[in-house]
Amino acid sequence: MRGILITFEGIDGSGKSSIAAGVARQIAEEERPPFAERRFLFTAEPTGGEEGRLIRERLKRSSRRTEVQGERAGEAEELEELFLFMADHARHLKETVIPALERGEVVISDRYSDSRVAYQGATLRDVVPRPLEWVRGLHRPWSVTPDKTILFSIDPALAMERCRSREEGSREGTNGPEKFEREEFLGEVAANFELMAISEPERFVVVDAARGRAEVLEETMEALAEILEKTKTEGDT
Ligand code: TYD
Repeated sequence: MRGILITFEGIDGSGKSSIAAGVARQIAEEERPPFAERRFLFTAEPTGGEEGRLIRERLKRSSRRTEVQGERAGEAEELEELFLFMADHARHLKETVIPALERGEVVISDRYSDSRVAYQGATLRDVVPRPLEWVRGLHRPWSVTPDKTILFSIDPALAMERCRSREEGSREGTNGPEKFEREEFLGEVAANFELMAISEPERFVVVDAARGRAEVLEETMEALAEILEKTKTEGDT
């Protein structure tokens, strides 16, 4: 059986990481097809590797910084961030995604290249022309395109509320929101994701993430079952 790459995308506070954890738990207990007959690998970007750790550190620091050192330096910093995410992606492909696909596994990644298109597409808005296409073009020659992408769609105001209550419950809350967790910015990122889903309807499955966790999890499991059934039939023909 050929490997399948499925990615989960959405803005901060969309709940996708919690759904990914729920999916992993349910799949481990599933004894029926189409789940029982496949091997799954759950992974995420930013990764836990060297570049991923560096990025997380930077995101925490930049949430506390109030102003950037000037326009050109600010632009350079956004590009630096993009290329750190890209380096993390390259290592993720090399060490995790490609080997698992070659073993015929189903790879489920919590964030992947579309996060770069949506988030850095927003941070680079005034830095490069047509930033979404530009970032997508940077990936095209060498990255692996997902077979399917589940987009957890949610109103940015509700997502922000979820981020805030999560922070209040954690010790990190004293740092304020991470760099990307601001409503106006999240609104732009959400709009970028929606645009991408519209322009590639055959790849994207959009799930309404504003509902309760159990409902969202159930719909995600149904979407995954459908994807697996479909690829099985395609593989047979
Ligand atoms: P996230 O998956 O939210 O990590 P965690 O929940 O463990 O903190 O990712 C951290 C942030 O990085 C998030 O705000 C989205 C952002 N991000 C990008 O801007 N570009 C990318 O390419 C990726 C993968 C993430």
